[in-house]
Amino acid sequence: MKPYRMHLMLCTGTGCVSNKAFRIRQVLEETLVKHHLQDEITVVPTGCNGFCAQGPVMVVQPEGIFYQMLAERDVAELVEEHFLKGRPVRSSWRPVSRCSTAGRSPATATGG
Ligand code: FES
Repeated sequence: MKPYRMHLMLCTGTGCVSNKAFRIRQVLEETLVKHHLQDEITVVPTGCNGFCAQGPVMVVQPEGIFYQMLAERDVAELVEEHFLKGRPVRSSWRPVSRCSTAGRSPATATGG
C-alpha cells in the first residue's frame, strides 16, 4: 500500500456533522480527484475533537495544522493553496493554528 503524503483528519462527530462535515468530506474528495491528488492525500473521518463550537474542524497531518469553521466554499482554496502549493490558508474569518503532534490543544497553539 502506498503511503499518503497528507492525511486530512476531518471530524465527523455529531457537532461537526450537524454543520455539514459530510458535505465537506464529499467536496474535499471530489476536489482532490479534480486535482489528481487522490493518491497522495486522503480524508480520514475522526470522532469528536472537543472543539464542537468551532466545527467542522479538520487537522492536516503531518503538519498538524488545524482548520475550524470549515464551509463548502473553503475547500477549493484549501486544496489549491495549501495542499497543492504548500501555503496553509490564514484569514481572519477562519483562523488557523498549529496543533502539536505531541497532543497539545490546537486552541492554545498560535498560527505560523
Ligand atoms: S463534533 Fe467535531 S469537534 Fe466535536
